[in-house]
Amino acid sequence: MKEVISVANPNFALIKYWGKADSINNIPDMSSISMTIDTLKSLTKITLNKSIKDDVWLLNGMKQKELGQLQPTIDYLRSFSNGNQSMLIESENNFPTAAGLASSASGIASIVLAINNILDLKLSSEEKIKAAILGSGSAPRSLFPGFVHLDNSKEINCHTILEPKEWPLKIIICLTSIEEKMISSRKGMKISKLTSPYYPTWVNEQDEDIKKALKAIKNKDFLSLASVSEFNCNKMHRVMETSNPPLIYTNEVTQNCIKQIDEIKMSGIDIFYTIDAGPQVKIICKPDDTDTVISKMKLVPNIHSIIEAGLGEGARIINES
Ligand code: PMV
Repeated sequence: MKEVISVANPNFALIKYWGKADSINNIPDMSSISMTIDTLKSLTKITLNKSIKDDVWLLNGMKQKELGQLQPTIDYLRSFSNGNQSMLIESENNFPTAAGLASSASGIASIVLAINNILDLKLSSEEKIKAAILGSGSAPRSLFPGFVHLDNSKEINCHTILEPKEWPLKIIICLTSIEEKMISSRKGMKISKLTSPYYPTWVNEQDEDIKKALKAIKNKDFLSLASVSEFNCNKMHRVMETSNPPLIYTNEVTQNCIKQIDEIKMSGIDIFYTIDAGPQVKIICKPDDTDTVISKMKLVPNIHSIIEAGLGEGARIINES
């Protein structure tokens, strides 16, 4: 029985995507820029299995009732294959799933790579990007290492801006809750596009933020990247919060983390934060400041745990037989 194992790491957006242009093909309404991180990972094992009739997906050991958001990705990938043998897909995350830590991005990126390999599809980079985006709008970014630009200004394109070793910043993840989010990103984006009065401005201003972040990353200009990243993150949360019903993904501990980050900044340490559709706070800092930042964040009451990460590799095959 042929078996392939792949790994992909989550990515955290600095310039975020929130809203779709086309919900059938799952195309984002805007470009985005992210950091692929290390430490957290999704591992996928795929086995071609003659004894099962349909594809089966196990997530963290639990058989899923249906393929859900994986279905369009799998259908697209199968369209390149002559065979129709069923696949047993086993995915494991070494971190909480659906809690705002981009588990769908890393999970889908690892699955795209593993299917490409096991069905011997030899897909181009563009085809892998398309397959990943069908499952999750942020998943193509986890195919690539380091700082990544998902550019949809013309054709969808995704590429690394800087490799991890070119600007080895640190990411400190403050887990404030490990519960799954109440409203999925997919559902939340639909609600925001339909109801937030700030949605059009959010979309119109994105290119400006992308330009500033690209320049900051290429120049390794930490303070400019900090300023545009926090601005963009806060605008996304304003869009979420002004949706009807309001989408509040943060909690009290998230807010207390932000206060502590402001104190750390005032003490002269350069750091910034970003927060996605979940209450976790991701802090970006320079390597030399990591220990100080962690010890200061430990003072915030009720943080569940703190995880230290660096910039990570793109999705990869780790074993095939
Ligand atoms: O890829 P999705 O559909 O899970 O959406 C990701 C949305 C955010 O994480 C909030 C922003 C982003 O660009 O990653």
